[in-house]
Amino acid sequence: MKPIALITGAAGLIGGYLVRTAARWAQQWEVHGLTRAEADLTDPALVKELWRHHHPQLVVHCAALSRTGACEQDRALARRINVDATRYLADLTRDIPFVFLSSDQVFDGSKAWYVETDGVNPLNVYGQTKAEAEQVVLQNPAHAVIRIALAAGTSPTRDRSFVEDMVRAVAKGTRLTLFTDEFRCPIPAGTLARALWEFVECQQPGLYHLAGSDRLSRWEIGELLVRLYPELRSKIQPGSVADYQGPPRPPDLSMCSDKMQALLSFRLPGFRQWVIDGSQTGNDPWDEPGSDRQ
Ligand SMILES: NC(=O)c1ccc[n+]([C@@H]2O[C@H](COP(=O)([O-])OP(=O)(O)OC[C@H]3O[C@@H](n4cnc5c(N)ncnc54)[C@H](OP(=O)(O)O)[C@@H]3O)[C@@H](O)[C@H]2O)c1
Repeated sequence: MKPIALITGAAGLIGGYLVRTAARWAQQWEVHGLTRAEADLTDPALVKELWRHHHPQLVVHCAALSRTGACEQDRALARRINVDATRYLADLTRDIPFVFLSSDQVFDGSKAWYVETDGVNPLNVYGQTKAEAEQVVLQNPAHAVIRIALAAGTSPTRDRSFVEDMVRAVAKGTRLTLFTDEFRCPIPAGTLARALWEFVECQQPGLYHLAGSDRLSRWEIGELLVRLYPELRSKIQPGSVADYQGPPRPPDLSMCSDKMQALLSFRLPGFRQWVIDGSQTGNDPWDEPGSDRQ
């Protein structure tokens, strides 16, 4: 019988990719995807019950309140899901590998190419809850925290990734202003899933960054995406974060993934080439993790 790997947040973007790519990248595991509909992870009694039911040998914790706006609106909820539920799980998994997905948003964005030893200084509630949860998880030397960059992909509900957000917004007639002075290292969600499955097999716990190898502005990302979603072309315009009003936004969240890269059998791709190549195949560009394009 194969050991059981439990993936929380399985109805979300990255959890969805982990479950759907398991047949390809994680054949040694029996993978159970857990959705909120099956269990609300903020209920400790339920989480314990789940534990008794599944007896997992690995947990990859993707469930989160992952939208920065939602976290600003309800700090208490953000804390319950992102910190408290993570603590319940980290406690239950004390004797097995536990992989917690954190975020580039733990940084303030005042420098480029963050490495794992850089200090955190989150500017928003989402980043604060992630930074707090990281500390909880890293108390156990057998556990891992992976800070994920902006992920592009197709979610089970078609409304989770930043790409889906952009396409849905323009379909409603919204014009999008994309900042030329805000930088990220986007990564295809399928690649993320492949890297995470490989990471699990390496049994090297600790803190890691996992990002694409290109540092691109939001505007550059939008211009690239036009190749895949031509409907964006006339609906995106360049702008400056200096003219933006709202909760603080970290200007540069580029992350260096060298520590993770050293464990992987494949090169983490640059988003630019990935999109250019993907636009020439005609396939779903986010759905072919580790295809022969790499
Ligand atoms: N996607 C990115 O670009 C990105 C970047 C950096 C870090 N991350 C991190 O990576 C992880 C996965 O992100 P994602 O993009 O896959 O997020 P997502 O699409 O928002 O998925 C999160 C999932 O968690 C579930 N969830 C929320 N509250 C829950 C609760 N109380 N009990 C059980 N399940 C609950 C959600 O359920 P519902 O479907 O019912 O809402 C959703 O399916 C998160 O920790 C996120 O912070 C993501």
